[in-house]
Amino acid sequence: MRELEDKIRQDGQVLDGNVLKVDNFLNHQIDPQLMYAIGAEFKRLFADQPITKILTVESSGIAPAVMAGLMLKVPVVFARKHKSLTLKNDLYTATVYSYTKKVSNEISISQKFLSADDRVLIIDDFLANGQAVEGLIDIIDAAHAQLEGVGIVIEKTFQKGRQLLDARGIRTESLARIKAFEDGQVVFVAASDD
Ligand code: G4P
Ligand code: NA
Ligand code: NA
Repeated sequence: MRELEDKIRQDGQVLDGNVLKVDNFLNHQIDPQLMYAIGAEFKRLFADQPITKILTVESSGIAPAVMAGLMLKVPVVFARKHKSLTLKNDLYTATVYSYTKKVSNEISISQKFLSADDRVLIIDDFLANGQAVEGLIDIIDAAHAQLEGVGIVIEKTFQKGRQLLDARGIRTESLARIKAFEDGQVVFVAASDD
């Protein structure tokens, strides 16, 4: 998605450890116009699939997920990373290991928001090692719901998440695909790379 790549080139900062900082339009401050365009692009990509629900993880997945839900006209559920006062019982829970932070976290959603009738689109901000998406898939499996696909805003193709999802035969659509960081610059996957 051209508009997103331009924004990443313009405002993204490449940090040590192969991390792209995008806190002025996605991870802290949010650009609503860009999120709207991202929602429209996810709709274009997944309109042919019978999606009933979007699933993401708090916090940074919520903005793109809500815009996709707006466009596809389906509800959006975000998995929580912390147990809330009102979210205690009847949960689907999965363990997510973060290679970046070297910690395991539990994510959960209330069972009442996901059922065997649901056909689910997962949306997330980043695809790196794929652990967040795998946790969401565990939750979808526990609910006996059906996974329709995965929509990612920014994918880093050099980390193992993409391979993992491809190996499982999951349709994964990423709006920006980064193949490398070179001298502090972002190198996107080119059409000719595919
Ligand atoms: P994984 O889910 O793909 O395995 O991700 P990983 O454990 O490697 O990353 C942990 C967190 O860091 C996730 O956010 C993920 O979205 C984010 N992340 C991964 N690579 C990058 C990157 O290059 N840039 C930025 N900005 N974030 C990256 P999180 O901890 O769940 O945080 P949040 O959703 O609350 O923001
Ligand atoms: Na995230
Ligand atoms: Na994040």
